[in-house]
Amino acid sequence: MEGLKIPLLFSSLFSVLIVSNAADTITKTHTINGSNTIVSSGGSFEMGFFSPGNSRNQYLGIWYKKISVRTVVWVANRENPLVDSSGVIKIIDPGILALVGGTGNIIWAANVTRSTQDTVAKIMDSGNLVVKDANDDNPEHFLWQSFDYPGGTLLPGMKLGKNFVTGLESKLSSWKSSDDPAEGEFTYWCDPRGYPQFILSVNSTKLYRTGPWNGIGFSTTRDLNNPIYTSELVFTTEEVYFSFETQSSMVSRFDLSHNGVVQRWTWIDRTQEWVLYRTSPRDNCDNYNLCGVNGMCNVRNSPVCGCLSKFVPQNQTEWGYGDWSNGCVRRTPLDCQNGDGFLKYSGDLLPDTRYSWFNKITTLRECEKLCLDNCSCTAFTNLDVRRGGSGCLLWFDELIDMKLYSENGQDIYIRVASSELGNLMHNSKHCYTYKSQKEDLELPLFDLAVIANSTNNFSINNKLGEGGFGPVYKGILEEEEEIAVKRLSNNSSQGLDEFKNEVVCIAKLQHRNLVKLLGCCIQEEEKFGYMSPEYAVDGLFSIKSDVFSFGVLVLEIVSGKRNRDFFHHHLNLLGHAWRLYNENRSLELIDEPQRDSCYLTEVLRSIHVGLLCVQQRPEDRPTMSSVVLMLGGEGALPQPRKPGFFAERNLLETGCSLSKDATT
Ligand SMILES: *[C@@H]1O[C@H](CO)[C@@H](O)[C@H](O)[C@H]1NC(C)=O
Ligand SMILES: *[C@@H]1O[C@H](CO)[C@@H](O)[C@H](O)[C@H]1NC(C)=O
Ligand SMILES: *[C@@H]1O[C@H](CO)[C@@H](O)[C@H](O)[C@H]1NC(C)=O
Ligand SMILES: *[C@@H]1O[C@H](CO)[C@@H](O)[C@H](O)[C@H]1NC(C)=O
Ligand SMILES: *[C@@H]1O[C@H](CO)[C@@H](O)[C@H](O)[C@H]1NC(C)=O
Ligand SMILES: *[C@@H]1O[C@H](CO)[C@@H](O)[C@H](O)[C@H]1NC(C)=O
Ligand SMILES: *[C@@H]1O[C@H](CO)[C@@H](O)[C@H](O)[C@H]1NC(C)=O
Ligand SMILES: *[C@@H]1O[C@H](CO)[C@@H](O)[C@H](O)[C@H]1NC(C)=O
Ligand SMILES: *[C@@H]1O[C@H](CO)[C@@H](O)[C@H](O)[C@H]1NC(C)=O
Ligand SMILES: *[C@@H]1O[C@H](CO)[C@@H](O)[C@H](O)[C@H]1NC(C)=O
Repeated sequence: MEGLKIPLLFSSLFSVLIVSNAADTITKTHTINGSNTIVSSGGSFEMGFFSPGNSRNQYLGIWYKKISVRTVVWVANRENPLVDSSGVIKIIDPGILALVGGTGNIIWAANVTRSTQDTVAKIMDSGNLVVKDANDDNPEHFLWQSFDYPGGTLLPGMKLGKNFVTGLESKLSSWKSSDDPAEGEFTYWCDPRGYPQFILSVNSTKLYRTGPWNGIGFSTTRDLNNPIYTSELVFTTEEVYFSFETQSSMVSRFDLSHNGVVQRWTWIDRTQEWVLYRTSPRDNCDNYNLCGVNGMCNVRNSPVCGCLSKFVPQNQTEWGYGDWSNGCVRRTPLDCQNGDGFLKYSGDLLPDTRYSWFNKITTLRECEKLCLDNCSCTAFTNLDVRRGGSGCLLWFDELIDMKLYSENGQDIYIRVASSELGNLMHNSKHCYTYKSQKEDLELPLFDLAVIANSTNNFSINNKLGEGGFGPVYKGILEEEEEIAVKRLSNNSSQGLDEFKNEVVCIAKLQHRNLVKLLGCCIQEEEKFGYMSPEYAVDGLFSIKSDVFSFGVLVLEIVSGKRNRDFFHHHLNLLGHAWRLYNENRSLELIDEPQRDSCYLTEVLRSIHVGLLCVQQRPEDRPTMSSVVLMLGGEGALPQPRKPGFFAERNLLETGCSLSKDATT
């Protein structure tokens, strides 16, 4: 034991001398042997020979220089130890960095494909050992770098992933034991198929996976905002990789331990020790595919496994015993031809499947279409959860390895037979028949009978109150879902498509608290409505006419008053809203009960956007997509001008059951 410590002590004594000489480079004349080391220019990392744990073998490695606990982050000859201290690392002809044994045998060499005039190897302050031309510091010209060949440790700036151009794949591979840095059983690697995710494997069996990146972090890593490091996932046609940078001067590393645990460590200067910041897998539910296909793991349940809603155990007997390996099956088979639907699950279920597909541009609505169009698509979600969500990720075939989180969850939409959606009708005799389910996605239509039944046939006992649009009733849907039904006039004069466009936009407002739209029932069809001036006057109809109608609807919702019925000092609702806006009194437009809302900023913004929508000239109105962006965003809005139909009252009303979140 004593004998073992001496070489280490020796090298650290020696390194003090080296630092003053600023030797960070191996050249044709400067080599490293058992008695010296090189140290990076900022003094962060040191490279030399060491013996791990209780081993007597000698390895060439890199470790932290400033940290009092010897922590090796990279090993050159991990598969090929030196049994004595005769090894020398040097540049041999023709410009190759090689570890040479006592008899001149090459133990290890950096695999370079070209050479330069004056090849050197330099230890950088990041911990990266680079082989390069002495006079060329351009990283793109490096001949070789240790960062491309990680062992068990990921340092800041290192890339873990795959380069599709060079074919280089960098993954973490565990040591065999703390005494032996040779490649162990565990690997942590990037699966670039579909949307990339990272996987912990033993031999070739999956143990744990991170789930796909969601724009902020991997779905399994919950504490995304932390003071220690920032992570990124880069995914282009050329490469995919994960990397991280530490914030401030924190020392942090990411390790795959020899017993198969992915660990994040941070160095605490005050106590002079490494502290375990996070480990994965963390709980029982992180065990890959614990609950079988269509199963769902919830650590707060006992037992942890359950079936997705609308699914049942494949074999109830086995399931009852806690043998979940055969998973769950659909209660009702899918019927792709006649239209399936989707159930929304909140809280990050992160399925894995044989195949997934993504698109960075599309909206959630388009994702739904894409998924419906392919009969083997089983689920979809947003690719990026930032800024309200964008892009989409589709899954195909059976869903496995789903885990439920309670908070910061991402919504996922799982395909089920349309009959499983209960009261959601798409071909009812009371409603217009849909062109096809595929084209009407975000707006479920309710059967009037269901709505009527849920409110006891619009019983007076269920009446909650009377709003600007008409009476509001309390209703109870299947599965105890409490709703409020606003019964509007049946005197609809608006085309179904235009009307649905508007309502879909309201649906996008729902997280803003105004209305939570569950669905709609339309009883009859007449022509157009909430007419835009150009239509009323000239019979012209354009995309922007929809925007006008939407603007009216927004102002009606906010004020709780119907434009048609509203009259105030010879102004209709639009005129009134405009006047209040000009006098900086928009607050007064808001329906009394909503004035105390904590969403006041959003409501005021909605008024502003509503006024932009009802501009006299179509070219002054925003497009529907920018309306959605305006409502969702926080940026400055253009100033509205005087609206169209400023003082007239010729806007027609429409018929629909809107539902408002009655419980809030
Ligand atoms: C190690 O290298 C140094 C200088 O490069 C040299 O002085 C020393 O003798 C060498 N030690 C051994 C054991 O080869
Ligand atoms: C060296 O690189 C070549 C080509 O990139 C590769 O085929 C070979 O396996 C590498 N050898 C080692 C020891 O990494
Ligand atoms: C991985 O494979 C090795 C060699 O085949 C075997 O000894 C080891 O037990 C395997 N590990 C696991 C966890 O199956
Ligand atoms: C369910 O599992 C039990 C135990 O493995 C087995 O005996 C039984 O045949 C299975 N039932 C079906 C319907 O497969
Ligand atoms: C459905 O998607 C899968 C995966 O992208 C693809 O292989 C298959 O051809 C698609 N099927 C149809 C009918 O488009
Ligand atoms: C009507 O409502 C009751 C509960 O109020 C419910 O049990 C029943 O299933 C509903 N019927 C229909 C046809 O929706
Ligand atoms: C609603 O009215 C219909 C007929 O008008 C009746 O058949 C049904 O039972 C009523 N439902 C409830 C819940 O009152
Ligand atoms: C519906 O229209 C009819 C005739 O156009 C009218 O008499 C009735 O009052 C209207 N109903 C409502 C609720 O506005
Ligand atoms: C509206 O509904 C009432 C009954 O609620 C009916 O008498 C009236 O004819 C309907 N109006 C239209 C335009 O269908
Ligand atoms: C409008 O009112 C807000 C809040 O009362 C105030 O901060 C702002 O300066 C006013 N703007 C104008 C143009 O009067």
